[in-house]
Amino acid sequence: MKNNIRNFCIIAHIDHGKSTLADRFLELTKTVEDRKMKEQLLDQMDLERERGITIKLQPVRMIYNVKMSNKTSEIQYPIFNSDTQNESSKPISQRYILNLIDTPGHVDFSYEVSRSLAAMEGAILLVDATKGIQAQTLANLYLALEQDLVIIPAVNKIDLKNAMVEKVTAEIAELLGVGEEEIIKISAKQGTNIEKVLEAIIEKVPPPQTDFKKPLRALVFDSVYDSYKGIIAYVRIIDGQIKPFEKIKMMAAKSETETLEVGIFNPKLEKTDLLKAGEIGYIATGLKEINKCRVGDTITNLFSSREFPLCKRRSEGFLEKIIPLAGYKEIKPMVFASVYPTEGGDYLELRAALEKLKLNDASLSFEPESSPALGRGFKCGFLGMLHLEIITERLSREYNLDLIVTTPSVKYKIIKSNGEKQSIFSPADLPDPSLIEKIQEPWVKLEIITPKEYLGQVMNFTENYRAEYQNTGYLTSDRTILTYEIPLSDIIVDFHDGLKSVSSGFASLNYELIGYRAGNLIRLDILVAEEKMSAFSRIVPEKDAYSIGRKTAERLKDLIPRQNFAIAIQAAIGGKIIARETIQPFRKDVTAKLYGGDVTRKRKLLEKQKKGKKRMRSFGKVEIPQEAFVAVLKKE
Ligand code: GTP
Repeated sequence: MKNNIRNFCIIAHIDHGKSTLADRFLELTKTVEDRKMKEQLLDQMDLERERGITIKLQPVRMIYNVKMSNKTSEIQYPIFNSDTQNESSKPISQRYILNLIDTPGHVDFSYEVSRSLAAMEGAILLVDATKGIQAQTLANLYLALEQDLVIIPAVNKIDLKNAMVEKVTAEIAELLGVGEEEIIKISAKQGTNIEKVLEAIIEKVPPPQTDFKKPLRALVFDSVYDSYKGIIAYVRIIDGQIKPFEKIKMMAAKSETETLEVGIFNPKLEKTDLLKAGEIGYIATGLKEINKCRVGDTITNLFSSREFPLCKRRSEGFLEKIIPLAGYKEIKPMVFASVYPTEGGDYLELRAALEKLKLNDASLSFEPESSPALGRGFKCGFLGMLHLEIITERLSREYNLDLIVTTPSVKYKIIKSNGEKQSIFSPADLPDPSLIEKIQEPWVKLEIITPKEYLGQVMNFTENYRAEYQNTGYLTSDRTILTYEIPLSDIIVDFHDGLKSVSSGFASLNYELIGYRAGNLIRLDILVAEEKMSAFSRIVPEKDAYSIGRKTAERLKDLIPRQNFAIAIQAAIGGKIIARETIQPFRKDVTAKLYGGDVTRKRKLLEKQKKGKKRMRSFGKVEIPQEAFVAVLKKE
């Protein structure tokens, strides 16, 4: 059955212009009043706007009126006719409901992308004309094709001087196996050809299949927590319909509740009387416990809408016949770090904050742990370093928590001499070497996409890592795709930055876990003022342990502020010290040199010193700044 709804998303590599294109759609469809329009409107978090990246998927519903002649109209449900005479040549206006989900482009957030794709029928594939096809263009395209979405290809940023419009158009056409005329050339910034994109959506993306009479099945693709309305589930209604004050059941969580409110995204939440099959909207559930309504669950109603509220509840037998939707595959974290509050008393606040963030970000995992030096905290799992950075930043901004995040690590599998197996998420948990038969670490298949001219530099760059070359393929005549296998721990920190710098920003990467392999690995410990700091311990290849130990000690010497006594920084393997640096003592009062004179300057300096201290943690006598925990992992 045809209708006037189109559900679509925009997929692209990071920074190719998704949020800017979404802004133009909002303007063109007058979804947001001109005076309220601001750049990257759908990036609602302060953090997203500051960094210019999308972290969370964000849905919005737009109304678009298209003028078309009666003859060419394929649409069955014109909402209004701009002219009362029924002359077939007179233009009529067709009203469409366009549901868009803006998604993130970074590899760490591809889980957000895959979830939004499952709620859609079409995807705009946006490629930056100055960059061409990059790794996430391809990864997201494959995700969309797996979901059988119709792809609308577009080349963006055609206004830029260095845009390679013809070349990139040819590349996309070659990749998709379509004619070059199908690639729409746009400038999201200047608003060029934006209508053409919307028209292509209307013409090519199929309207959703809808059956209002079937029992409700709504796919929860995201959720947020509201202190009044409880869990607000973002849903795509697949079958049936839902109204406020209706009894519903979360099929996987087996929880029941009554809807407080249903509505649409405008882009702020806007109440409606009804959500029906094919639509995208929200259901306020009133539920306060986060495990009662999870992303990927299917919501159904306990009474059929027509019968409600007079009729009886559906029988269990009837409910069993409703087949839950496929949901999402469980996502596995790649990087682990412990998060501790700097003030021990904030432990419960940290737990509550993590629970709420988890609701909004299903890929976050955490469990309680404690450490003699750091007190009570949580071992958290993240999808990558950017994810770790964003979550910890959100914890401190949105929940006002001061945190210490320990040096991130991957998961290791230990096979002990007695045959026992153990998984560890932190090098500090590595058993005594005499008990270990093998240490296995995660390996990934790494794909690097680069223009041909940077191939040599990129290959040289990978030689600094434990990368095992697999092959070189040609994505298009000008763009190569290099495949490697590499330990995950080699690429999580600064590999991406290094790759960008050797390729003038053109090369990009994507990776997926391929399994665990044994390696010649040992634990490197760091001692600060003679005390072992387990938060700095790392598992490293034996052959590189000396040089890594030396570099780490040197780096910490620069990062740990001087104190009024000398501090020794040592790297050790087993009981053996392999490197040593000394931080010379320093007079404590930073304003001591400012004799009398400028009081404001003195105060400013003291304030600055106090602020700098905020994100430090005392380990014995020594204070260590937060950034040191990640900096020790960097190659340069
Ligand atoms: P992520 O969500 O972080 O993946 O980024 P994005 O794909 O949403 O990109 P965004 O819209 O934030 O744009 C990235 C940068 O490119 C911003 O500085 C935009 O102003 C700029 N940009 C986007 N489209 C155009 C365009 O058509 N022309 C020009 N000149 N700049 C553009």
